[in-house]
Amino acid sequence: MFLHGTTRINANGHLEIGGCDLTELAQEFGTPLYVVDETLVRLRVREFMDAFRSTGMKFQVAYASKAFCVMAMCRLAEEEGMSLDVVSDGELYTALQAGFPAARIHFHGNNKTPEEILMALDANIGCFVVDNFVELQLLNALAADKGRHVNVLLRITPGVEAHTHEYISTGQQDSKFGFDLGNGTAFRAVEQTLKLPNLKLLGVHSHIGSQIFEVEGFRLAVEKVASFAIEVRDKLGETFTVLNLGGGFGIRYVEGDTPLPVGTYVQAISEAIIATCLKADFPLPEIWIEPGRSVVGDAGTTLYTIGTSKDIPGVRKYIAVDGGMTDNPRPALYGSKYEAVLANRANDVAREVVSVAGKACESGDMLIWDLNLPEVKTGDLLAVFSTGAYNYAMASNYNRIRRPAVVFVKDGKADLVVARESYSDIVGNDLIPERLRKQPVSL
Ligand code: LLP
Repeated sequence: MFLHGTTRINANGHLEIGGCDLTELAQEFGTPLYVVDETLVRLRVREFMDAFRSTGMKFQVAYASKAFCVMAMCRLAEEEGMSLDVVSDGELYTALQAGFPAARIHFHGNNKTPEEILMALDANIGCFVVDNFVELQLLNALAADKGRHVNVLLRITPGVEAHTHEYISTGQQDSKFGFDLGNGTAFRAVEQTLKLPNLKLLGVHSHIGSQIFEVEGFRLAVEKVASFAIEVRDKLGETFTVLNLGGGFGIRYVEGDTPLPVGTYVQAISEAIIATCLKADFPLPEIWIEPGRSVVGDAGTTLYTIGTSKDIPGVRKYIAVDGGMTDNPRPALYGSKYEAVLANRANDVAREVVSVAGKACESGDMLIWDLNLPEVKTGDLLAVFSTGAYNYAMASNYNRIRRPAVVFVKDGKADLVVARESYSDIVGNDLIPERLRKQPVSL
């Protein structure tokens, strides 16, 4: 069993995270329950911060809030000195409600609506990451209406696409995001931005993929982005002060995943920037990055209660949990793999291979196809690891299943940071036209 962060097996053979016994958390908060190891989140952030500090460069580490955007997480990100990347009015609203300093918010997205842009302008956010020509004009016009000058980065597609283990350095043109570097579109975007009086161009942004385990793709992207900055200076006399390399740093989900220490990515990125800039006598820019998964991913554990099972001799044994694709759509969407243990009998020896099914009405609602477990009984608790990123964030109400609660655990204390949805939440936005109305059936 791979125990990470503050996850331990206690004297009762129960799994414990942040000093909290998971069987007690299940009793107190119910299941399914997302449990976030606050200490591990803070540690991950500090790893990024410390690695950057040791390079001596100016930097911002912006938490890609799409991975897990709730107000308590925004608070934590601020406390740890991060900036924040948002991609919608909902994420922006969450950050602002949490009191996150607007000046440290960066707004991404390939189709920001006028309403979203106005909301961000009114909040006075720090930077817009502009994705396309339509947005450039729109943002300039809306900023002009408000008599404002706004900081922008241009998102470029550098022609480097990173899969977990491989890089394709040409095939990336076909993307909905950003200005293409290879065909000259990015250069035209810079020219155009410089002519727009209400936009202040700080530099460029690139994001090459997610769940990346190697530094090579980042190095390639840095070289392309920094060379572009040099070209812009040489041809247009404009010197970028910020290069943003996006997120994508991989984490461990299952055995065989081999994430690099965060410092290795940071070192590779900064070394490549320094080398490219020095050669061209280019003043060192500020480096920004946007980790999401690597900040919260392995700090999250989902706790389920095991209910029914179905044994098909010679074929497979299914065990069903009280959640599934509604709280973790990643296996169904991407074929993602997870590890799990029985939280109430963590020392028991594995005796059978089971398949963990969710409770949604869909055959594809499977969380783990092959999992070694002790003989499972109804009422056992299953803890699925590394569910901190893109789980709660992508959860749904399919089958009108209520989204689980989220707790932060630390030093033996569990704080509820998202309440479990209630039945009234489920029907909260429903309206029955007058002609169809009837008294509710009381429960
Ligand atoms: N910056 C930009 C511009 C991004 O598009 C993303 C992720 C990030 C930063 C953060 O990437 P991270 O460090 O988390 O890898 N739903 C998928 C992941 C989608 C990622 C989208 N963009 C999943 O569950 O794996």
